[in-house]
Amino acid sequence: MSTLDLFAEPAPAPEAPAARAAQLRQQLQHHGHCYYVLDAPEIPDAEYDRLFRELQAIEAAHPELLTADSPTQRVGGQVLDAFAQVRHAVPMLSIRTETDTESSGAEAFDARMRRELNLAEADPAVQYVAELKFDGLAMSLRYENGVLVQAATRGDGETGEDVTANVRTIGQIPLRLSADVPAVLEVRGEVYMRRDNFEALNDRQRARIAAGAKGEKTFVNPRNAAAGAVRQLDSGIAADRPLSFFAYGLGEVSGAAQPLWARHFDMLMQLKAWGFPVAEQTAVVEGAAGLVGFHQRMAAERDQLPYDIDGVVYKVNDLTLQQQLGFVTREPRWAVAHKYPAQEEMTTVQAIDVQVGRTGKLTPVAKLAPVFVGGVTVTNATLHNELEARRKDVRVGDTVIVRRAGDVIPEVVSVVLDRRPPDAPQFTMMSHCPVCGSLAEREEGEADHRCTGGLFCSAQRKQAVWHFAHRRAMDVDGLGDKLVDQLVDSGQVNTLADLYHLKLENLASMDRMAEKSAVNLLDALEKSKQATLARFVFALGIRHVGEATAKELARHFGQLDAIMVASEDALLQVADVGPIVAHSIRTFFDQAHNREVVQALRDAGVTWAEGDALAPTEMPLAGLTVVLTGTLQSMGRDEAKDKLEALGAKVAGSVSKKTSYVVAGAEAGSKLDKAQSLGVPVLDDAGLALLLNGEKP
Ligand code: IVH
Repeated sequence: MSTLDLFAEPAPAPEAPAARAAQLRQQLQHHGHCYYVLDAPEIPDAEYDRLFRELQAIEAAHPELLTADSPTQRVGGQVLDAFAQVRHAVPMLSIRTETDTESSGAEAFDARMRRELNLAEADPAVQYVAELKFDGLAMSLRYENGVLVQAATRGDGETGEDVTANVRTIGQIPLRLSADVPAVLEVRGEVYMRRDNFEALNDRQRARIAAGAKGEKTFVNPRNAAAGAVRQLDSGIAADRPLSFFAYGLGEVSGAAQPLWARHFDMLMQLKAWGFPVAEQTAVVEGAAGLVGFHQRMAAERDQLPYDIDGVVYKVNDLTLQQQLGFVTREPRWAVAHKYPAQEEMTTVQAIDVQVGRTGKLTPVAKLAPVFVGGVTVTNATLHNELEARRKDVRVGDTVIVRRAGDVIPEVVSVVLDRRPPDAPQFTMMSHCPVCGSLAEREEGEADHRCTGGLFCSAQRKQAVWHFAHRRAMDVDGLGDKLVDQLVDSGQVNTLADLYHLKLENLASMDRMAEKSAVNLLDALEKSKQATLARFVFALGIRHVGEATAKELARHFGQLDAIMVASEDALLQVADVGPIVAHSIRTFFDQAHNREVVQALRDAGVTWAEGDALAPTEMPLAGLTVVLTGTLQSMGRDEAKDKLEALGAKVAGSVSKKTSYVVAGAEAGSKLDKAQSLGVPVLDDAGLALLLNGEKP
């Protein structure tokens, strides 16, 4: 026997197709449950597909082996002329529904139950099951001897429609129940579509419409999409629209050794054990306080759920009590639904404005006819950027669905295309900034248009001033956000240079500005005039030019004028500078108003030491790597870092064998220990002073 033979699997015994088909069905049912219901697949998708195709092949070769509960029947394909009518063995009731924002309805319901049940004040709390009110459509699933034989919509409650072929395509619904179940079991629940599946479906629909497909449309919301899928005469189309299911009740149950359960919750847990999805939020709670707690918890969790709910449902848990309470007309007395205010409403788009953000980003905003949604009146909804506005194809005059969930900013979910006026123009982003008139550009690979006006655009001025004053830029202590807003809004600061013309009386008139702080600020401004070239270049706020790039530019060119006139090719020679950065620098200095601001800053007295362009290798501390740690006496760590780097040293954050020196001040910790263990030379303030003199200690 060769080694190979040792590892070869024994040849499979020729199996009867019927036995193999049964085995495959059982395996596929198990893995389908793991995948669709438990969300925990045990085998890779490809393996599932392989088993699936094997079963399909057997059924094709032996049609007599095909069964109604075969997983292959989930893919759809049956096309009907009309749905057959189904008379429900047990009517499908509805629940009393109240809109309840305050959760006071829970107290009223509990009081009603206690009254109806003749409970005295001293009697214990009534136990309830609190459930989510799923926003889909009600479905009755009939199992006979454990096999799904019929799925029917609610219809008028007495008679619904037979949608079995479509419902078979829902992966979460078992086609056969594994355990011993009653001979007849009708499971009731909600068919719904998850939000992510809904978004994906609408994306596909939009693509079809764009490709010229006739008769296609987008869906208004997940419920609408789910209802449309369930009522498809062609089950192949239904199969293409992913639906989900939650069980919450029962219809006819017969042929079981009664009683199977005494409480509603026990029944739900039994359904879960039989393989039906039951929402994990479902809870047993005590009395009014328990219901109120659930209502509030779910109101907070609602937006994080992957599917829509429109409220909560409370049900008396004890089935004997349920029977005692009975029904009023077509509603059980033992249950109530409390709806949350709607999160989606329809309105019209009156205009699409473009707003300019602090960083020059242009944002299209739909101006809406006021609509009350999610508890507030909404008049604006962001369209984010041109691509997004185009993707949703929102146009002036359109009727749109607006969603406001929780504290999230309102957004346009979709357009109701049926209601579009014939000549509604497609949205296009303007070519110039609506605030300052500068060119608006969208860079390749980016979604946002930006105003190129830079320091000239008033919408960007605040951000620019704030950045200019930043500790690692010009380091103007005491110039915070609020003050910048005031200075710009009051017209005192129109360009960066205006900062250096502020007088004590200008500042003292600002809100919450004590004279002492005003004096300090003027001092800080005065001090900031002594800059370094790198800090100054960084402070200008050129897009894509961060602190490190500014340092490289300063090191490479040595002089501001050289940077200002450098071509993109010349800029590309700088370490750290790629085509996008080079283009951004060139664009910035090409704008006359930016050059004027630079000149005005120089005129105001801002200076720095300019040197000759130095090749990095010629600098006195070139090739050294220094780590700073602890509190230095002679200067702050930032200042030491700037000075060392200006001389060509690299300042690193952690100590390694490659570190040339560790400069340790007071209370230096682990970095000092590491330096000592690696034998890296350690310097104090005096050693640092030598280094900064260009001497290597
Ligand atoms: S119980 C006898 N529970 O809300 C009570 N219904 O009128 C029968 N719904 O369209 C319904 N979530 O489809 C129940 N957890 C839930 C529900 C729920 C949603 C729907 C149901 C029907 C309406 C009730």
